Amino acid sequence: MSLLQKSFALALVSAATFVAATPMPVVTPAPVFPDLASIEKRANSSCTFTDAAAASASKTSCATIVLSGITVPSGTTLDMTGLTDGTAVIFEGTTTWEYEAWSGPLFSVSGKDIAVSGATGHVLDGNGAKWWDGKGSNGGVTKPKFFYAHSLTGSSSIKGLNVLNTPVQAFSVNSATGLTLDSITIDNSAGDTGSLGHNTDAFDVGSSSGITISNANVKNQDDCLAINSGTDITFTGGTCSGGHGLSIGSVGGRSDNTVSGINIASSSVTASANGVRIKTVSGATGTVSNVTYSDIKLSGITSYGIVIQQDYKNGSPTGTPTTGVPITDLTLSSITGTVSSSATNVYILCGSSSCSSWTWTGVSVTGGKASTACSGIPSAGGAAC
Ligand SMILES: *[C@@H]1O[C@H](CO)[C@@H](O)[C@H](O)[C@H]1NC(C)=O
Ligand SMILES: *[C@@H]1O[C@H](CO)[C@@H](O)[C@H](O)[C@H]1NC(C)=O
Repeated sequence: MSLLQKSFALALVSAATFVAATPMPVVTPAPVFPDLASIEKRANSSCTFTDAAAASASKTSCATIVLSGITVPSGTTLDMTGLTDGTAVIFEGTTTWEYEAWSGPLFSVSGKDIAVSGATGHVLDGNGAKWWDGKGSNGGVTKPKFFYAHSLTGSSSIKGLNVLNTPVQAFSVNSATGLTLDSITIDNSAGDTGSLGHNTDAFDVGSSSGITISNANVKNQDDCLAINSGTDITFTGGTCSGGHGLSIGSVGGRSDNTVSGINIASSSVTASANGVRIKTVSGATGTVSNVTYSDIKLSGITSYGIVIQQDYKNGSPTGTPTTGVPITDLTLSSITGTVSSSATNVYILCGSSSCSSWTWTGVSVTGGKASTACSGIPSAGGAAC
């Protein structure tokens, strides 16, 4: 063989080896005989994986990644971080995770212009009952977080996922810019039995901007939404049941303590501890500004219809508000509905002048007690306890 023939043969062998050594992905081959460079890039191929390790190993060489019926081994992350720009990830069948006491996450994805979705009939089953002990992330067995949507950039989306029984918090959105989470269903209602499911927040958002969470359907035992920091964040068309409501906070005492440009709209909160909630940390600094809650319907609220308090410390209220995290430019528009008779309709605990420029219109929460402990309510703008 000539040198040319030899290197051609070598290239053939390498190509064959590459395919043979990775049986899991069903690779739609490029139409012409590929040179090695195009094998590396694999610019327009779809890969189907039935094994978590194989999916993680080959993730950057597939334009579309189908995760089909994967059982993820205990103590490991189904790792879709660092994807090639523009990658699509599709869950198919039942994705499930084996038990181990660890902090997770069970799934993680990052990259630019990433589209995550689910095929008809798919389910992401977190098998939460194996971890649930009523203590959530405050004690008991260490429980894995479920879904990290961290460092997603460009114009990324997570759409139409069916999530069942997360061990503890479900979606963590952090360091993301330009991300839409649409039509995500989270059903942790099995955790209501014996009050075993705990701290099963649906969407926790931190240090992110340009985030839209639309048409979520959540049954859980903690916040439906919790924004700890971030700007330009929209939550709309949500249905929240069983949890702690639509929350901002607690704000303060973290590395990022700015919350601004928040639009929470056209949603319902039923059978939950709170409806609308903003809490800031006692003695901390930060800011909560330009926040709008509009068209929120409440029913079956057991603690507070609307609660805004500047006195949080170590996870519970002190009763004494501090002024380091002012809450300004807060609009509440059309917040209506009922709370249970033992609950409080509206509770506002602000420090001296640390709540200002509030506009409340069409706020009507009834059925519970009127608070006698409110303080610092802005004098103009219609807010009242
Ligand atoms: C990838 O393949 C699909 C289906 O054959 C085709 O519609 C699409 O245009 C291709 N995209 C690129 C970037 O080649
Ligand atoms: C308030 O937030 C919205 C996004 O919800 C943004 O479009 C608007 O520019 C912000 N206004 C100010 C004065 O920052």
